[in-house]
Amino acid sequence: MQKSLFLTALAGAALLAACSRPAPVAQDGTDLWLAAGRPYADVLASVETTIDPALPAEGYHIYDADGQRHVAAGSEAGLRYGVYALQRAEVLGQAGPGVDIQEQPYYDLRLLNHWDNLDDTVERGYAGESMWEWTSPTVPEARIRHYGELCASVGINGAVLNNVNSNPLILDAEHIARVAKIADILREYGIKTYLSIKWTSPIALSGLKSGDPLNPQVRQWWKDKAAEIYRAIPDFGGFLVKANSEGQAGPQDYGRTHADGANMLGEALAPYGGIVMWRAFVYSPTSPDRANQAVEEFLPLDGQFADNVIVQIKNGPVDFQPREPFSPLFGKLKNTQMMMEFQITQEYLGFSNHLAYLGTMWEECLKSDTYRDGPGTPVSKTITAIAGVANTGQDPNFCGYVFAQANWYAFGRLAWNPDLCAEQVADEWIRQTFLKPEGMTDKAFASKFIAPVRDILMASREAVVNYEMPVGLHHLFGGTHYGPAPWDRLGRPDWTPAYYHQADSAGIGFDRTRSGSDNVDQYNEPLASQYNELASCPENLLLWFHHLSWDYKLSSGRTVWDEICLHYDAGIKQVEAFRQTWAGLKPYVAPALWEETAKKLEIQQHDGEWWRDANVGYFQRINGLPLPADVRPLEAPIDSLIYRQIRSDRLEMPIHDENNRPVIVAPRFRRPQ
Ligand code: GCU
Repeated sequence: MQKSLFLTALAGAALLAACSRPAPVAQDGTDLWLAAGRPYADVLASVETTIDPALPAEGYHIYDADGQRHVAAGSEAGLRYGVYALQRAEVLGQAGPGVDIQEQPYYDLRLLNHWDNLDDTVERGYAGESMWEWTSPTVPEARIRHYGELCASVGINGAVLNNVNSNPLILDAEHIARVAKIADILREYGIKTYLSIKWTSPIALSGLKSGDPLNPQVRQWWKDKAAEIYRAIPDFGGFLVKANSEGQAGPQDYGRTHADGANMLGEALAPYGGIVMWRAFVYSPTSPDRANQAVEEFLPLDGQFADNVIVQIKNGPVDFQPREPFSPLFGKLKNTQMMMEFQITQEYLGFSNHLAYLGTMWEECLKSDTYRDGPGTPVSKTITAIAGVANTGQDPNFCGYVFAQANWYAFGRLAWNPDLCAEQVADEWIRQTFLKPEGMTDKAFASKFIAPVRDILMASREAVVNYEMPVGLHHLFGGTHYGPAPWDRLGRPDWTPAYYHQADSAGIGFDRTRSGSDNVDQYNEPLASQYNELASCPENLLLWFHHLSWDYKLSSGRTVWDEICLHYDAGIKQVEAFRQTWAGLKPYVAPALWEETAKKLEIQQHDGEWWRDANVGYFQRINGLPLPADVRPLEAPIDSLIYRQIRSDRLEMPIHDENNRPVIVAPRFRRPQ
């Protein structure tokens, strides 16, 4: 009797242990954030749908009435958004009886910009080749449908299919036919198709002698081309244009302005309802401060752009750095439609190798007060549309690895509602992406898995800033923009780190104050003075706006030099902590996703150490100062890093060795510095 009691107790204990040990559910990241919800068709089948013209076109209303769940919307697109919103609400536990959710998007245009080339490479793409498979005889329909679902689920309603550094062939008959096939599929998901054009297309495709926007032949060429495109794609969205920028031709080559060029294209597209997105990413090598140039070129044109032209502006005045102040253009243009250009692909934040959740960076920008129309005019309210440079490719998980997917999701959600907070978006993404282990309660999953992962996401961008470019430093990159090269001072000055850090034995930083390039005065008051004065300039932008002596004391009482060293070190410690947390999360995550992330975090730590060693070691060579006592010694001597870069593959993906360390090599051709 006693023996059997003992055995029963033993079996009970074993059962209890088995129940409390989570069993991760197998998943591989190919469902992205649609993994946890019910399939779209099931959600749709479970509701009563109505088109209600009284609702905004893309808006929806989810509610319960007469013992039935309803989704009403202003259009088919709105219904789709409503069904996806219900799917999300179910996962988030917000779809109980009596549900009542009514929403509409803040911006009408919510676009992805794909920098995909016709040879299937992707500029700054870190998830394989182009998902449009330009060189294949057929279009990848299943893939495009999957993409369409993902975009629709977060409300993205437009896609520019090709690179801003455009190939004129995108507008030949063969490519227009192919684009029409893609557009036919995307249309089913409420996504309009747009193309990037090359300014010189009339010359390249039809042998015209000029690209002058005031030349009647050129104007007619674009009108004819627009007519041809709309015959194939009746709801074609329009053109994205990079002109007079980084060697691309444009109207200035003919003595004309950006407005002349944009309006000519606008006129060609207007009869069909198409738009022109004209990029403000312009800078010439001769100007004393690259950050000043967009305002210098575009402010005089304020009010001159046609109604169907929108000026597309990068979030910061330089180029998608881990931290920049917002572009001063947002606070300056008053009579021009503006749209945001964020970069989802992590060109400057560790490609698809580093965990860097960009929701926090975008929130910082969107909520920045421009003071354009007095206090309380955030960037989000100065723009009327929003675009993100996509991080998608042919990789089965679209983005290179699971955590890179969070940025696509966050972009879509913030484009729908720029007032959302990044933390909420991160929380939503985790809950929809990672499947709860069997036998685990919602509460336990939330505290043991969701909360620590959310903490990693929320800290991740600042960690990258710390180990790449703290205290307002920026653009300290080598060739592919992966890895440090603070020593680089060869070639076009505004493409070299030395131009940006301005370090010498006395100090460091770019002087953009009134005694320097006066970039501060491109901001409205009180920002201009805040940035100009050392006492009020935010410390995380200090070396963006000021050139300071190495021994200048910050609010912490420490010198600039000590703070730089401490931030680099803090960045590495943050990544170490992410790795530790992730190690403890193994019981809750599918092995494939756990392994993939563990490997990426190890790469990130090693890369971060390389960044720190190279930058701190290089600056030490210049200033001869010792490391502060509480900073760990550098691992690699600067002599082993200087003038070296990471080895990359054919697609510019960095190569790491079997220990997940960057393979650092001397460049094949190096002129003396
Ligand atoms: C950056 C990027 C280029 C890109 C350019 C642009 O300079 O490195 O690859 O073409 O931005 O936005 O036009």
